[in-house]
Amino acid sequence: MRQFRKDFLWGGATAANQFEGAWNVDGKGASTSDMCTGGSHTVPKRITRSIEEGTFYPSHEAIDFYHHYKEDIALFAEMGFKVFRLSIAWTRIFPTGMETEPNEEGLAFYDRVFDECKKYGIEPLVTISHYEMPFALTEKYNGWVGRECIDHYVRYCEAIFKRYQGKVKYWLTFNEINAGAMPLGNFLSLGILNEGTTDFVHQVDIPELRFQGLHHQFVASAKAVKLAHEKYPEYKMGCMIAYMTTYPLTCNPDDVMKAQQANQISNWLCSDVHVRGAYPSFAERYFEDNNIRIKMEDRDLEILKEGCVDFYTFSYYMTTCVTANEDADNIGGNLIGGVKNPYLKASDWGWQIDPKGLRYTLNEIYGRYEIPLMVVENGLGASDEISEDGSINDDYRINYLREHIEEMKEAVKDGVDLMGYTPWGCIDLVSASTGEMKKRYGFIYVDKYDDGTGDLSRRKKKSFDWYKKVIASNGEEL
Ligand code: BG6
Repeated sequence: MRQFRKDFLWGGATAANQFEGAWNVDGKGASTSDMCTGGSHTVPKRITRSIEEGTFYPSHEAIDFYHHYKEDIALFAEMGFKVFRLSIAWTRIFPTGMETEPNEEGLAFYDRVFDECKKYGIEPLVTISHYEMPFALTEKYNGWVGRECIDHYVRYCEAIFKRYQGKVKYWLTFNEINAGAMPLGNFLSLGILNEGTTDFVHQVDIPELRFQGLHHQFVASAKAVKLAHEKYPEYKMGCMIAYMTTYPLTCNPDDVMKAQQANQISNWLCSDVHVRGAYPSFAERYFEDNNIRIKMEDRDLEILKEGCVDFYTFSYYMTTCVTANEDADNIGGNLIGGVKNPYLKASDWGWQIDPKGLRYTLNEIYGRYEIPLMVVENGLGASDEISEDGSINDDYRINYLREHIEEMKEAVKDGVDLMGYTPWGCIDLVSASTGEMKKRYGFIYVDKYDDGTGDLSRRKKKSFDWYKKVIASNGEEL
């Protein structure tokens, strides 16, 4: 029976804007995420067009990985990480995105980080753009709506591909690119800030602009992949999709049809472009029905064909349901949409927990593409308590991860080629959706709170030793 590969990439995942801090240090420019205030499960983050005096911006200090990277990477090494997923902040390298020469201090920071990883034999897995871009590009072009962003992004890729040769092998072009297929992705993923938008949850959505931006990201990604393949054959280029399987609530064919359409647009459209190098057949009708006309240049479709990725990665937190019955119980409040699945429990943030859905999802994706897969985000956002003796007994997190790893094992037995697993937020960091610290995912607790207080000290949770054992046994001891 098949098992996890011997060289299975166990590790953890992070993103620059959610954990580095040092937002304006050593030449770094302001990114889109630097313009987001704190929020909560019930109060949306605000998007400000300039930095307001006296307002709390969680990304500005975050957990200050910028100054704690040695300590943090040593803890990852202690758990036995084989891989560490992190992103490069575009604004450290090109502060406004439009410079012609990269910022040396920014480049040097990631040299230090990658060298530290190398010291412990940890392979970096680098997301080139994870939910941030230079805010200057939002101001100038309304983010990815501007075709100019393609060249700015490719210049950024040229700089980092050249610099980190021999230090990085695995690259992901855009984090959760399919967020741009949903209204929430406007500012988060595409840097689009339409007139009238003030907060993260109620963004003014113009679907045509969103899909135009997405098209530019597809072209930019394909150009980056092509560049890597031609100049740096040792590089492995991947895509990254927020995969949320949508089930029909019932076997009513209307529900089944609705679920298929949701999966097509939310899950498959972007990865079909990345993996197959072309828009899928169902896209045309969707664009027509929604009055979306995408402006393309003559060579765009060829470029997409020339830049197909080598492996497919995705985040997996939950599944959802849809129904044609308008009276059904909406999930509500968690930004995701869909209706409640009566068979599943949800996290305190309303994310429906579905380990078996991971096996199903892995089989679905592998069946469609048959290229290596990697789960690069998974985990339970929860509010952790420190006991009187100083311990943090996060058994709920251990149970969540154990159940998901068990289902990954089943998928491998089903024949899925799975390269690795990097649970999200291996060290506590700022939540992307709410801006909170309270929503913690880590094996490592960070003393940092939603009012900005905290001494930033690190402390192992119970899950730290558990995950160490999982890695040491290649997933046998769960
Ligand atoms: C993914 C993102 O959507 O989910 C991460 O790639 C994010 O950036 C993670 O942090 C968890 O979401 P949240 O909102 O709980 O931080």
